[in-house]
Amino acid sequence: MTKRICSVQSGTILVLVICLSLLQISCRMMTSTKVKPLHSYDNQVQALLAKMTLEEKIGQMIQLDQEFLKDPQDIATYFIGSILSGGGSDPKAGNSLKAWADMYDGYQKYALKTRLGIPILYGVDAVHGHNNVLNAVVFPHNIGMGCTRDPDLVRKVGRITAIEMRATGVQWTFAPCVTVPRDDRWGRTYEGFSEDPAIVDMLGEAAVQGFQGKDLFDPLSVAACAKHYIGDGGTRAQIVEGDAAQSSRRVRLDQGDTVIDEAGLRAIHLPPYITAVNAGVATIMPSFSSWNGLKCSASKRLLTEILKGELGFEGFLISDYRAIDQVHPDYKTAIGISINAGMDMGMIPSKYKEFFQNLKELVQEGVVPISRIDDAVTRILRVKCAMGLLDKDRSQLADRSLWDSFGSDEHRQVARQAVRESLVLLKNENKTLPLSKEAKRIHVAGNSADNIGVQCGGWTIDWQGKSGEVTTSGTTILGAIRNTVSADTRVTYSEDGTGADGADIVVVVVGEKPYAEGFGDSADLTLSSDEKAVFANAKKADIPTVVILLSGRPLIVPNMIVQSDAFVAAWLPGTEGQGVADVLFGDFKPRGKLSFSWARSADQHPINVGDEEYDPLFELGFGLSF
Ligand code: GLC
Repeated sequence: MTKRICSVQSGTILVLVICLSLLQISCRMMTSTKVKPLHSYDNQVQALLAKMTLEEKIGQMIQLDQEFLKDPQDIATYFIGSILSGGGSDPKAGNSLKAWADMYDGYQKYALKTRLGIPILYGVDAVHGHNNVLNAVVFPHNIGMGCTRDPDLVRKVGRITAIEMRATGVQWTFAPCVTVPRDDRWGRTYEGFSEDPAIVDMLGEAAVQGFQGKDLFDPLSVAACAKHYIGDGGTRAQIVEGDAAQSSRRVRLDQGDTVIDEAGLRAIHLPPYITAVNAGVATIMPSFSSWNGLKCSASKRLLTEILKGELGFEGFLISDYRAIDQVHPDYKTAIGISINAGMDMGMIPSKYKEFFQNLKELVQEGVVPISRIDDAVTRILRVKCAMGLLDKDRSQLADRSLWDSFGSDEHRQVARQAVRESLVLLKNENKTLPLSKEAKRIHVAGNSADNIGVQCGGWTIDWQGKSGEVTTSGTTILGAIRNTVSADTRVTYSEDGTGADGADIVVVVVGEKPYAEGFGDSADLTLSSDEKAVFANAKKADIPTVVILLSGRPLIVPNMIVQSDAFVAAWLPGTEGQGVADVLFGDFKPRGKLSFSWARSADQHPINVGDEEYDPLFELGFGLSF
């Protein structure tokens, strides 16, 4: 009998295994369904292109920043193809959901009034949620998402971000940043998922799929933008002689020079772009930085031969912000070099009239062949066609029916899950964590504990982000702790770390002040003296001490790690601080794994897994649990 049952059991198990693997394959196929290839739209695109004048073609190749748009009639006059809101470029009527939707609709109506009525693509840096807009859900920055190793979650985050963007009409995000940061001293480290190309590859693909959905034609999909091509995270640190006030910025990496042979560039920095192209990414942004001394925005090898030729990229290249200006001291020459190298659309925030006139002359002078213009406009129109922008039956205005889901609790729960999974437990002596919800008294210390701005970091409401209440809704870590403990538990708080005496435990929250791009380049990667003082004050109480670090990269804080009983790297978790409390109190067991090596000291930088001499404080992949 037993034998028979066994044989029946083993047969059942076999069938189950087969079903499971079939389910897994179909799931993978579902998520890995590639969007319809952009060249499938070429008949419609070529028919439209044939009708276009040179001026209408050149207009499609221009993206201006609404911040510098004095007369919206220019959108029609110059046949503008795209508008962006750079960081902080908010509606004049304020930063609300309605103000954004009204602004978008207002500009779109000018484009629809033109002879051919080609709608604009509106682009923003929705890099961790629709982070420019008040009360949008702000997710963990990519460094935290990298520690989740969870592509399904990244896909979900991308999808929610797309929906919240579409509620304002905006259909294009300059994300995902698929940089592979190799030196943590770079101010954009937190925009990267990992120093490991394989992690970036996996999560970058998921982000593209989240943003673009299964079909760009879906009115809830947005165009993604893999950036910054290529090697933006591999630049060589330059020592900059700054004055004493700038001592912490003695090093400069942002927009620098990536000195590496082509084999090295392909091994470290190219894989995420291969995957993004294969996933059907609609746009790619060349980097401000250089490769062996040549600006990426000027490199025909990079933009045309490798990306469009070898990888078969069918979408279009959007320059970075005034990046074309950096190609040559003479603006007209710079435009010619960059467009001939393969740039398709210029991000021309304010000088769009000059760009328009210069490019028109370059074509008339034969410097830029009309074939190059036609290729660029074909690529731009492919994306617009694929997104339904050329579909006369579809409204091109903001979908206000999505307003109920904007910033909704449902979206916030996904952000909370992302926070939970992103936290990395680096130390937990004597089972300090999880905390008890019934503790008599918990003291919370540090301004960062009650500071949505520090929690969110850069690219939040403002380009550089800002410390303090950024008047966007969310839950601080202090608020989350208060939400979680029992009614009998006292939670006390001090900004400076004093007053912990007599408490059962003190939770010290310290962090970096928000920054973005080159403003975050830093040689010493330590906390400010104020933040260090908070910890020192809290330690005087001589009670168990938990440290929560809010930072855009691994920091050099050896004393804090040694002197704390538990230490959690929370990165830049965004608005949903409740996810931090879920881990602190054990409602969610920490499972985050470092996606960057954690250096022992600043002079170890750059330090990356795979280095010949690899001796970090914590290795890539490290992370404890309960
Ligand atoms: C910035 C950044 C880029 C961003 C663009 C538009 O300078 O380099 O990541 O997408 O400008 O804001």
